[in-house]
Amino acid sequence: MKNYKIAVVNGDGIGHEIVPMGVEVLEAASAKFGFKLAITSFPFGAGYYQEHGDFMAEGAMEELKSFDAILFGAVGLPAVDDTLPFKLFTNKVRTAFKQYVNYRPVKLLDGIQSPLGTKTQADIDFVVIRENNEGEFVQNGRVMYGDEPHGFATDTSLFTRVGIERIAHYSFKLARKRRSKVTNVTKSNTMINTLAYWDRVIGEVAAQYPDVEYRKMYIDAATANFVLHPEYFDVVLTTNMLGDILSDLGGAIMGSLGFGPSGNLNPERTFPSMFEPIHGSAPDIAGKGIANPIGQIWSAAIMLEHLGEQAAADAIVAAINQTTAAGVLTTDAGGTNSTKEVAQSILKFL
Ligand SMILES: NC(=O)c1ccc[n+]([C@@H]2O[C@H](COP(=O)([O-])OP(=O)(O)OC[C@H]3O[C@@H](n4cnc5c(N)ncnc54)[C@H](O)[C@@H]3O)[C@@H](O)[C@H]2O)c1
Repeated sequence: MKNYKIAVVNGDGIGHEIVPMGVEVLEAASAKFGFKLAITSFPFGAGYYQEHGDFMAEGAMEELKSFDAILFGAVGLPAVDDTLPFKLFTNKVRTAFKQYVNYRPVKLLDGIQSPLGTKTQADIDFVVIRENNEGEFVQNGRVMYGDEPHGFATDTSLFTRVGIERIAHYSFKLARKRRSKVTNVTKSNTMINTLAYWDRVIGEVAAQYPDVEYRKMYIDAATANFVLHPEYFDVVLTTNMLGDILSDLGGAIMGSLGFGPSGNLNPERTFPSMFEPIHGSAPDIAGKGIANPIGQIWSAAIMLEHLGEQAAADAIVAAINQTTAAGVLTTDAGGTNSTKEVAQSILKFL
């Protein structure tokens, strides 16, 4: 029997409510589909920082390396400097473990009415592939003389050929398993160095996949098309920051940010991959028992898919759809149910 070593990091805020739901569903799936999970929880995040001065314990990155995957909630607390969570946890793990693919499905669940009104499940079914290790988020910059009239700030993006090629190859290969369409969402008409280079390298990779339809779309047009024509998209290939923003719009057209799942993938499997919902720690609703657990539970399903447990992953996604079809929903999605009731429903259908 296969035995997977899973690290669990609730993080902060609603992470403490929704990650345990993800773990319950994983345990039910393991019992049903005949694999074992050895789960270890780590108390890392902004709360940990308040007590210990760092987001994770010394030596934690080395320890995490030995796991098959990481299930994560979100980090960030209103009382903690919000420039720290990404730097000291999320981005640290994503870059150290070469999780260069951020995989974010956008799919309308059964029984859910999209805020787009007439758009149906046939229209809203695509994946945002966000470059996850470089681009605008490398945190390469500085602030100088901030309090003075000549104060200035810089953030210099970084795009490497190898970084662009690997995310492009991942996207075109993924498209071959889907509807064979890649849309490169870019802004090379104004970012005439970095994103023009991004387009050029992606164009070279596209030429190696003549069977995949390739088009380029500017981010401004893409945001409009996410709303007006989501059916244009199959695989959306984009940069770290553009993908961060676009995938929240993806969550919104699914009916709630709380539905959106993601995987930070290291496709070569030389390091563990990390699975988390697309949203943050939602401090405004933390502790109320009303957070939508679906993005988290769906992320756990993507984790199982990555580990090779496809049947278990499919069963969880089916149970999520049965739950939404039955109208068992939290308030963000127009329902009246609690976090626990939604999770219990998913467990029941599983
Ligand atoms: N990967 C991460 O760890 C990550 C990602 C994004 C934001 N953050 C952090 O989270 C904190 C809050 O950020 P924010 O408010 O901009 O974004 P957020 O995603 O936490 O919340 C935005 C809005 O969506 C709602 N929402 C989010 N998830 C929900 C869910 N599962 N169910 C119901 N409603 C939900 C919230 O209540 C809020 O009104 C900040 O500290 C930020 O840095 C962390």
